[in-house]
Amino acid sequence: MIIVQRLHGKIALITGAAGGIGAGIAQRFAREGARIAVLDLRKEDCRPVVDAIHKAGGEAIAIGADIADEEQAEAAVAEVHAAFGFVNVLVNNAAVMPSGRLHETTVADFDRCVRVNLRGTYLMSRAVIPHMLAMRQGSIIHMASVTGILGLPGIAIYSATKAAIIGLTRAMSTDYARLGIRVNAVSPGTIDSPMLHRFINAQSNPEYFRRAFDDIHPIGRVGTIEEVANVFVFLASDEASFVTGANYEVDGGIGVKGEQPQDPV
Ligand SMILES: NC(=O)c1ccc[n+]([C@@H]2O[C@H](COP(=O)([O-])OP(=O)(O)OC[C@H]3O[C@@H](n4cnc5c(N)ncnc54)[C@H](O)[C@@H]3O)[C@@H](O)[C@H]2O)c1
Repeated sequence: MIIVQRLHGKIALITGAAGGIGAGIAQRFAREGARIAVLDLRKEDCRPVVDAIHKAGGEAIAIGADIADEEQAEAAVAEVHAAFGFVNVLVNNAAVMPSGRLHETTVADFDRCVRVNLRGTYLMSRAVIPHMLAMRQGSIIHMASVTGILGLPGIAIYSATKAAIIGLTRAMSTDYARLGIRVNAVSPGTIDSPMLHRFINAQSNPEYFRRAFDDIHPIGRVGTIEEVANVFVFLASDEASFVTGANYEVDGGIGVKGEQPQDPV
């Protein structure tokens, strides 16, 4: 049997990859033949993902960095370059999600969310682009969310950062389309992940939300990390060579139905 590895020869830097969806993307990319830089706030938290990749026969390094810190973002990309010689895939996955209606959030919530989700995405992209331009080759994939399009309740600040990331994707794609760098976004619906569990457990009626999240997706359930990772593989691969400026909704149809869970209390 011939096994085609769709990301053979790629070097992929994945932020927020110590757990959740980022860890799933990292392990999936490694199975497809990419060499991986697993980045998260604490290097030691990345080790289990790196170890799992090594155990499966892949190559990976761990990087500890705060993506929203200019020096740390630059140093992280330099570290990938030093380890692997180049970097041609960047997955901007790391994010934070303060919950609450707008008047219930604090200015500190707002600043932290914009700092990590938007500034972090900007800084990591800015650090990686000169390396991609030098090779005239690269794929940047931003993690957005359907809430950046629909505006789901209880996460206004987060939704605004995701809407901004979709705008950033479109604008960046036009700047680099003729220079060999493709820029796309992925907007998941609700995904079975630690971030979802934290959100549900913070609600006054977690059981209601657990059921509601399944029900609002026309497919009848929340998505899996693997289902999101599949789309990232495509966008990172040369199969997507004519795809740039796109926002892929991986959302079980919620973007079409547009119903939203409301806390009944
Ligand atoms: N889980 C969902 O249902 C869902 C739906 C739509 C979009 N998303 C998006 O998918 C991505 C991953 O979500 P998840 O559910 O795996 O969340 P998660 O909280 O499990 O993972 C986020 C990771 O980012 C890291 N991180 C946070 N701030 C950082 C910083 N300043 N520098 C470096 N790393 C930092 C965290 O340590 C964590 O490991 C996020 O962008 C999220 O907005 C998630």
